[in-house]
Amino acid sequence: MQKLRLLRKTTGRVRVLAPHFCEEIEQAAGTTLHLEQAEFTEDALDGAAIVFAASDDPELDARVAAGAMARNLPINVVDGPALSNFIMPAIVDRDPIVVAIGTEGTAPILAREIKSRIEAFLPANFGELARRAKDLRQRVQETITDPVLRRRVWENLLQGRWRAAVLAGDRTGATTELERQLASGEAQAQPLGSVALIGCGPGEPDLITLKAQQYLQAADVLVVDRLVTPAILEYARRDAVRIDVGKGPEGDSALQEEINRILVREALKGHRVARLKGGDAFVFGRAAEEMSAVRAAGIPIEVVPGITAAHACAASVGLPVTLRTKVRQFTVVTGASADGPIDLDWTALAQPGQAFAIYMGVRTAPRFREQLLAAGAAPRTPVVIVENGTLTSQRSVASDLGSFVDAISAKGIRGPAVIFVGLDWADAGLSRPDQIETYILSPAQSDTLANIANDAAARTRSIVDGRC
Ligand SMILES: C[S@@+](CC[C@H](N)C(=O)[O-])C[C@H]1O[C@@H](n2cnc3c(N)ncnc32)[C@H](O)[C@@H]1O
Repeated sequence: MQKLRLLRKTTGRVRVLAPHFCEEIEQAAGTTLHLEQAEFTEDALDGAAIVFAASDDPELDARVAAGAMARNLPINVVDGPALSNFIMPAIVDRDPIVVAIGTEGTAPILAREIKSRIEAFLPANFGELARRAKDLRQRVQETITDPVLRRRVWENLLQGRWRAAVLAGDRTGATTELERQLASGEAQAQPLGSVALIGCGPGEPDLITLKAQQYLQAADVLVVDRLVTPAILEYARRDAVRIDVGKGPEGDSALQEEINRILVREALKGHRVARLKGGDAFVFGRAAEEMSAVRAAGIPIEVVPGITAAHACAASVGLPVTLRTKVRQFTVVTGASADGPIDLDWTALAQPGQAFAIYMGVRTAPRFREQLLAAGAAPRTPVVIVENGTLTSQRSVASDLGSFVDAISAKGIRGPAVIFVGLDWADAGLSRPDQIETYILSPAQSDTLANIANDAAARTRSIVDGRC
């Protein structure tokens, strides 16, 4: 009956063949279904364009399927994907909008679940919006000639008060809002561009915020960093222009000034620019430079926070970054050192009970070990390295201060990685998760490293004091 309900909507002629019909089918037949009370014979397929078999008799269904296939007809056997040469996806019908959900016959229950979610999301009269939009198309086209402005007007109509009025059946409200939108669109000589600085999280696409998703969908231009997972770009419009700024010709970061110029240039064209950054834009994201360049050009800029790598990596290995009594502060530091020595307060970081996360520290890890040991940190201070956090390629290694540099080379860790120092599951009363690898040198090897570090630090002090 379900199939017949659907087929009744077609303008084609629907013949229904059966030795007898239930009451429901007889009542539903009306003028659109032609009921023929007869046993199936192959010549019943003559003149058919498409065939459905739904007899509850597998043998009969198989005969119908064989007959249809012999005539090269599309055949769908209900609950018989192996006998069918096409499938009927579940549909959400909001005429003229139709959403089809197919699982290639593998899991109709999943299709039903998706269907009911979409149905809950789209009001029953959602199609009315599409019908009204069709009627308005020409008028909007003629009134607003600038294509960017026109798109804005459509978005305002279809996502704002006009939509609400149409769906509520409020004709007067819809007309007032339509006239208001057309008048304000017409009055603007040039659309106003904007920039949104969007933190896209550590990698896993589900870890972006709903707000980031909305801004991505609205963006005309995407300016994309290297660490942004490509899957996240699926949230953007297909026609959005994409500019990759993560890599220059030799794989270097594009110059920051060039990125600033691109943001300003695109926004001045009236585009909504989404500047996509890994993690959170305000954590080692050079956000301030981009914000001041955009503001200096008089362009509005908004910041959408994201989940920073340290938080995501800690969560992915179940490692709390603060503990009520034992770890009362947590610091993030950068290991990047393009301009010389790493300028950190080593004495403070080496104090017992300190906990911190090193970003961009894989390459400079030996310097962290040397400086921290020289400043008095214990070689057994716990270290946890999380590489490619939240991605399927994630790897995590538990080590200690004396051993973690060797762990990085022994395990072939190249980053991106966050290195946690001073945090341990045991301190939190938790056991270490099974998927975490371990790499810890023997105490003797560690002590040797500590002595080497102390010697190196002593030499540095002598040079600074002028005693060398
Ligand atoms: C230029 S910083 C950008 C940080 C970013 N703004 C954030 O909030 O996460 C790049 C560093 O972030 C860290 N990082 C970013 N994504 C990561 C991930 N999925 N797993 C581990 N570390 C990551 C690494 O330390 C990498 O070197």
